[in-house]
Amino acid sequence: MTDTPIILPFGMNDLVEIAAMEKMLFDDPLDADRLMKKAARSTIVGWTVRVPCTSVIIGYLLCDVRYKSIRIVRIAVAPKFRRRGLGSILMRWLHGLVTMLWLYVDGFHVPVYAAVDPGRRIARRFLKKHGFSRVRKMKNGKYLYRRIYEIASI
Ligand SMILES: CC(C)(COP(=O)(O)OP(=O)(O)OC[C@H]1O[C@@H](n2cnc3c(N)ncnc32)[C@H](O)[C@@H]1OP(=O)(O)O)[C@@H](O)C(=O)NCCC(=O)NCCS
Repeated sequence: MTDTPIILPFGMNDLVEIAAMEKMLFDDPLDADRLMKKAARSTIVGWTVRVPCTSVIIGYLLCDVRYKSIRIVRIAVAPKFRRRGLGSILMRWLHGLVTMLWLYVDGFHVPVYAAVDPGRRIARRFLKKHGFSRVRKMKNGKYLYRRIYEIASI
């Protein structure tokens, strides 16, 4: 990759491309219909990382904004672009979202949750690096991670 990738807000037009990436990367892929339904309820906010000249999506972060908390629905970077800081750049955009959500919550803390398969060691290491800690094992076998963002720390 010679050009610096660009970050754009996630839009409905990205669903098909993201669903194709999901199929490649996950055993439990999010399909375009499921994402469309969520997005139509306006609870999904996200960003895509793209190669500038082709605009092909090489990474994305999708978040579900809930009442007083945020859930990371998915964060993914295409295998050949990993370990170059793109996932971390997406996490920085999450900080902005937290700041916005804070306008609607009481106090100075916004919990952000992410559910990860125990076998995804790199994803778990990635979350730890970004300040998340394991809270518990969920009924579906995934580990629930949480970071409580303090507004002062952003
Ligand atoms: C998790 C994921 C998004 C990270 O994206 P990325 O762009 O490679 O991440 P970064 O380059 O920003 O890495 C940040 C940190 O994560 C950890 N990390 C990332 N890749 C790693 C690897 N291959 N081995 C060990 N640690 C790794 C490191 O702590 C790294 O910091 P460092 O480079 O200073 O050591 C990417 O690996 C991915 O898409 N995985 C598959 C999808 C997935 O499991 N998503 C999470 C479930 S929703």
